[in-house]
Amino acid sequence: MVAARPSKAEVFGKCGKRLRDRTAESGIFLPLTRLPERPTRIAVRRDFSAIFRLILALTMIFPALATSAMAADKVELSVDASKTGAKIDRNLFGQFAEHLGHGIYDGIWVGPDSPIPNTRGIRNDVVAALREIKVPDVRWPGGCFADEYHWRNGIGSSRAVTLNPNWGGVIEPNTFGTNEFMDFLDQIGAQAYISVNVGSGIPREAAEWLEYMTAAQPTTLATKRAADGHPAPYQVRFLGIGNESWDCGGNMTPDYYLSQLKIYSRFVRNYNPAQQDKKQMLKIAVGPGGGEPRWTEWTEAIMKAYQHHTWSWDMNGLSMHSYTVVKWPPSYTSEGFGETEYAQILKSTLDMNDLINKHSAVMDKYDPEKNVALVIDEWGAWYAPLPGSHPGFLLQQNSLRDAVLAALNLNIFVRHADRVRMANIAQMINVLQSMILTDKEKMVRTPTYYVYKMYVPFQDASFVPVSFDAGAYTHGDITLARVDAIAAKGKDGKLWLEITNIDPNQPVEIEASVAGIAAKSATGETLTAPRVDSINTFDAPNSVVPEPIAVKVQGGKLSLKLEPKSITVISVEQ
Ligand code: AHR
Repeated sequence: MVAARPSKAEVFGKCGKRLRDRTAESGIFLPLTRLPERPTRIAVRRDFSAIFRLILALTMIFPALATSAMAADKVELSVDASKTGAKIDRNLFGQFAEHLGHGIYDGIWVGPDSPIPNTRGIRNDVVAALREIKVPDVRWPGGCFADEYHWRNGIGSSRAVTLNPNWGGVIEPNTFGTNEFMDFLDQIGAQAYISVNVGSGIPREAAEWLEYMTAAQPTTLATKRAADGHPAPYQVRFLGIGNESWDCGGNMTPDYYLSQLKIYSRFVRNYNPAQQDKKQMLKIAVGPGGGEPRWTEWTEAIMKAYQHHTWSWDMNGLSMHSYTVVKWPPSYTSEGFGETEYAQILKSTLDMNDLINKHSAVMDKYDPEKNVALVIDEWGAWYAPLPGSHPGFLLQQNSLRDAVLAALNLNIFVRHADRVRMANIAQMINVLQSMILTDKEKMVRTPTYYVYKMYVPFQDASFVPVSFDAGAYTHGDITLARVDAIAAKGKDGKLWLEITNIDPNQPVEIEASVAGIAAKSATGETLTAPRVDSINTFDAPNSVVPEPIAVKVQGGKLSLKLEPKSITVISVEQ
């Protein structure tokens, strides 16, 4: 997927200057209003009689009328709650926060002197919102930023001011460093996923960072940490060894990266006494960025080496990055689009399933026991930057389409839960497909945020298979499964069911037969909105929020009606 993609330095370096130059020169970077021509609805409607046009106009003005007037198709699901499968690792719902645009500064960090309510410089509103979605882990400090990050710049009372050449060439004040990140994690209740610098750092620098964070004994670095305000060692649950080492992380060949991986895996140690056994630090190697042969060859090289690994190095995860972008550079708009762009983006996002299958097959060859997790630590929709925003800041809106996209991907991960045990959406705040958008003192939860909230019961639940005939949704030359669904047995003992109706026009009647438990009652919530491009704004933050949905339970069968373009989560009581 990244094959034809220009490097970040090329696209975003020097405050986006080359981006603008290239736009003018080649037209590769289309202005937002000039997306390629597509067949429009108007063309399709040309043959309609006047009466049909009137009905259509009315239904466009009153979409609810359209919904209730349409006969809903029926989809039958069958769930057997006695057949539980793999654990749905809560780390599938992880986040990614890079020093990029307003992801960290303004999004998380406002500083202790800010008029914006904060705790030790960290925004209280953002912390409260993130606590609600039970963020399991946060990957930090990058992304491409990680391979140029020097941790010593971000500790102590006097911080080095550096640059962020990957993302706009702006000043990096380093005021948010290791201790601030750990404080933030503590406030939101998440685990650390630290990406160490393999590209421009050396093993010693990374090893010393881990010693600074995790040593309990009074070494010089642990004493420094205590002097910086944290005598107790931190826990670092996940260690990312490089980022996209085949591209922005240093353009390495698989063999060159492998030799780095072995060295970092050997010497970058976690000294925290509490992490020597069950909670040991899990090491994640750089993996593929797409499905083409160069990526399967990369997976093959790393996994083959893993199969023969000796005591002196190890890995627990292989990272994979896959964005929904359709084509590079990102040109789809994140707001003000129609059904065509809705269908095209969803079709593209569903490629995630094939990608996982492809790399899982290679992994299975060398690791049939599935000891190594496939970690999808960068995924999500990547659209054109919002007009007027800094092109290197990757700021985009988040619509109902993104909520559907998030649900479809989470469902794919869940169905692969035996191999896919961690995923980190890109990125948590103000960057790409965010949970939260902020503007100075204002904050809004995005439609994607609400999907994460609705999926909380699936964290660490046990997979339960669901069978159904999904039906079809067709728009132009695109046909997609109309309905998607997953089920799980929650830690609370309840059966949980998620059902997405992709079809933006037609409701769906669901009839679900539930075996394995005596279903007595069910409650649920649904997330939908009038349009596929409906968004939450600072002024209207509740346009796309979950609402209760009625579920009938009779004779072990659940019935409910799904609105068009909706995500629904229900819990079944026995
Ligand atoms: O998420 C934005 C960027 O995308 C990351 O920095 C990089 O790893 C990926 O290419």
